[in-house]
Amino acid sequence: MGRGSGFGKVILFGEHFVVYGFPAIAAAVGSTTIATVRRISEPGWKITDNRPAVPGYKKKKLNEQKVSIDNILRFADIDVSQEGLHITLGGKLVCASGIGASAASCTAIARALSDEFRLGWDDNKVNACAYEGELGYHGTPSGIDNTAATFGGIVWYKRDLNGGDPTIETIKLKEPTDIVIASTGITASTKEVVGDVRKLKEEKTKWWDQIAEDYAEIAETARKGFDDMDLQLIGLLMNQNHNLLIEIGVSCVELEELVGVSRQAGAWGAKLTGTGRGGNMVALTPGRDLQNNVFGIIKQRGFSAWRYRIGV
Ligand code: PMV
Repeated sequence: MGRGSGFGKVILFGEHFVVYGFPAIAAAVGSTTIATVRRISEPGWKITDNRPAVPGYKKKKLNEQKVSIDNILRFADIDVSQEGLHITLGGKLVCASGIGASAASCTAIARALSDEFRLGWDDNKVNACAYEGELGYHGTPSGIDNTAATFGGIVWYKRDLNGGDPTIETIKLKEPTDIVIASTGITASTKEVVGDVRKLKEEKTKWWDQIAEDYAEIAETARKGFDDMDLQLIGLLMNQNHNLLIEIGVSCVELEELVGVSRQAGAWGAKLTGTGRGGNMVALTPGRDLQNNVFGIIKQRGFSAWRYRIGV
């Protein structure tokens, strides 16, 4: 039996902009998805998905998951036409739109296959395979999710729009810090939302160029803010990034409620994270007391929420 794992992630800066070659910053969270693969005598592959998930998540992703696993097996050059595979997914990562659950599962499956079939893959190869898997979930993944799922820590990620290798750099924090992630409970389709943003970008090029320029400055300043461990600045920049995400039409009522509540409870910054139009919100809450406070108030409102340390 082969086994592998992949981290969940949170995008701190740059969702959507990353698709168009702007740098983004993502942090791995402490929870992982674990995959095991076992050879079986029947042909084909089957999956047992034991991952915890928000209601509706797994059903909504089922068809995409099939395409994703076919892609992964093709990349790994594993033929299941005679002897098949039983893939089992588990682990503590709760699947919700925005936590990188699909990428975490792709990374975990890639590692489990490498383990079972003695492929000897390093992290770069695992990441390349997980990217193929991500293609099954939406047509044009930037690659940031699988990169964070594979490498962990905090990553600075910039895709090469000419098809070359992306820039992946690790950002080291002087000390870890605390965040709260909350789920709207709504599972958005990344493909659809990314498609809508693309349409807007193509229709209103001048408008987009200004927003993209503003974002580029936020990303560069945030990079410096992390190097200097200036978390107050990071919080401020997260708020600014959120405003740009509102402008490109990817927030929603529930996300605004979560962002507002978190800021009121003292979070240093709060923004939607990931696809948007549902999915998750991330709040920067340095120190356990503040983290617990923001977490508690979000829970009182009836949302699911999680506390994580990043930069560990
Ligand atoms: O919803 P998530 O966590 O899978 O993030 C999607 C991030 C996007 O920038 C919207 C798309 C991408 O491929 O990077």
